[in-house]
Amino acid sequence: MKVKILIITACMLFGLNMHAQNRLVINADAGKEIISKHIYGHFSEHLGHCIYGGYWVGEDSPIPNTRGIRNDVVQALKDIQIPNLRWPGGCFADEYHWMDGIGQRDKRPKMVNTHWGGVTEDNSFGTHEFLDLCEQLGCEPYITGNLGSGSIEEMSKWVEYITFDGESPMANLRRQNGREQPWKVKFWGVGNENWGCGGNMTADFYADQYRRYATYCRNYGDNQLYKIACGSGGIDFDWTEILMKNAGYQMQGLSLHHYTVPNSWADKGSATQFSEADYFSTIEKTLVMDNFVSRHSAIMDIYDPMKRVGLIVDEWGTWYNVEPGTNPGFLFQQNTLRDAIVAGINLNIFNQHADRVKMANIAQTVNVLQAVILTDNEKMALTPTYWVYYLYKVHQDATLLPLSLTSDKYELNGKEIDAVSVSASKDATGKIHITLVNIDLNKAQSIETELRGVTVKKVSGKILTSDKINDCNSFEKPDTVGVKDFKDAKLAGDRLTVNLPAKSVVMLEIE
Ligand code: AHR
Repeated sequence: MKVKILIITACMLFGLNMHAQNRLVINADAGKEIISKHIYGHFSEHLGHCIYGGYWVGEDSPIPNTRGIRNDVVQALKDIQIPNLRWPGGCFADEYHWMDGIGQRDKRPKMVNTHWGGVTEDNSFGTHEFLDLCEQLGCEPYITGNLGSGSIEEMSKWVEYITFDGESPMANLRRQNGREQPWKVKFWGVGNENWGCGGNMTADFYADQYRRYATYCRNYGDNQLYKIACGSGGIDFDWTEILMKNAGYQMQGLSLHHYTVPNSWADKGSATQFSEADYFSTIEKTLVMDNFVSRHSAIMDIYDPMKRVGLIVDEWGTWYNVEPGTNPGFLFQQNTLRDAIVAGINLNIFNQHADRVKMANIAQTVNVLQAVILTDNEKMALTPTYWVYYLYKVHQDATLLPLSLTSDKYELNGKEIDAVSVSASKDATGKIHITLVNIDLNKAQSIETELRGVTVKKVSGKILTSDKINDCNSFEKPDTVGVKDFKDAKLAGDRLTVNLPAKSVVMLEIE
C-alpha cells in the first residue's frame, strides 16, 4: 500500500500519467545531424511488372502517359517527394548492356531476363526513358553499372554518354539519339551484389575490380559522381572490412542489403495470411537492421572516422512468397498493415543513424516485393507502405533530434521486443516531427513525452492503422488502409501524452 502511494505521489509530483509505460525525452534544441532526404529513396529493377506496366506503358497506350510513362504513378511518387530512384537493378544490372537500350526503340536488340522469369526484355525502356522518368519525378537518378559481365570500357562510356558536354564519340551518339544537353547523374553504383548474382566474387577480388572500374568512371564538367561500391548482404562483416581497407579511399558510398524474410528463404511465408507468431518473427527479422547498420558503421568508423563514406542501404524491405498463381520470377506480393509497421521501423532506424546512413532504397517501388504502388493495367492502388512514406516525408533533410526512449515490451511465447519505435526531427521552419510505431498487435501504448528546449504551442498528427494487421489495399478496395487525423496527443506545458492504438504508425507535428 505504502509503495503504491509513493508511486502515485511521484507520478503526481513529476506530472506523469500513471498508466503510461513508455517514456520519451526529446532534446529539441540539440540536433546536429541532417537526415538525408535520400533515406526516402526507391529502387526499381527490370523485374516482373516494375518497369513494364509499372512505369512504362508506351506512347500509344490508352493509359494516360507522358512520352510512354504513366502519369498516375508519377503523380503518386511526386506526392511522397521521391528523392532518388535506383535502376536498372539489382541482379539485372550486372547483365544489362546499356547500348542495347538506346536509339530507335523498334530497332533495339532483345535479351532474355535470365534472373527474373526468363522473359524477353525488348529494351524499350533504356537510358533516355529512365532519365526522362527521373525528370518527370523531379528526383535524382541512381544508376548501377555492370561490373559482373560488362567491361570497364562499357561502364566508362555509359558515364560519358550521359554526362559529357563536349565533343566525344559518346556525347555525339547521345545527341544523335535526341538529347543535346548532358544529364546530371550523381549516384553511380559500381556493380550490385557482386558476392552473389553480380559475379560470385570474393571481397578481395571485388575490391580490386571496384578500383579499376571506378577509376574510369570520370567526372565530366561539374558532374561529380558519388560512387557507390557493392557492400555486404547483411551478415558478412568481413566484406565491409576488406572493402573499406582496400578501396575505401576511392568510394563515396558503400552499400548494404537486408531483406525482411519472416520464415526461411525456401518458404518465406504469405504476404497476407499469417499468424501472430509470423508477425512477431517478421518484426524480429526487421529489427536486425539496427544491428547490421550499427555493426557495419562501427567497421567503417575504423577506416573512415570522419564519416566521409556513406552507408547506402540500397535494397531493403519485406520478401514473402509470391501471390498464388503469379510468375515466381516476378516477385509480386500484396502489402498489408504489417508492411507499414516494417517500413515505419526501418525508416526510424535509418533516421537514427543519419550520421552514417546517407541513402536507403526500398525494394521495389512498383509491383515487386515491398512495393509502394501496385498496378493492374489502368488500375493503381497505393499500399500501406506508401502511406508511411507519405507520413515520414517531413523528415527529409530535417535535423535529427536526439532522444531517449524507455519502451514497454511486446511479448509473445516467452520472447519480447520493444513495443515502440521512434525518431524525431526539426525542419527548416522550426516544426518538430515525431514518427512513432506501436509494434504491439494487441495493446495500445501510452507515451509520456518530454520536449526539452522548446516552447510548444500546438500539436497535430496523422495516423495509419486498420482493424486487422493483414488488411491491405486492393484494386477493388483501394482505401482500406489509409491516413486519418490523429487526435490522441494531449499537451500540458512541455509534456505530451500520446496514446498510440495497437499496430499503428503515427506522425506528430509540433509547433
Ligand atoms: O530486389 C530483388 C533482388 O534482390 C535484387 O535484384 C538483388 O540485388 C537482390 O538479391
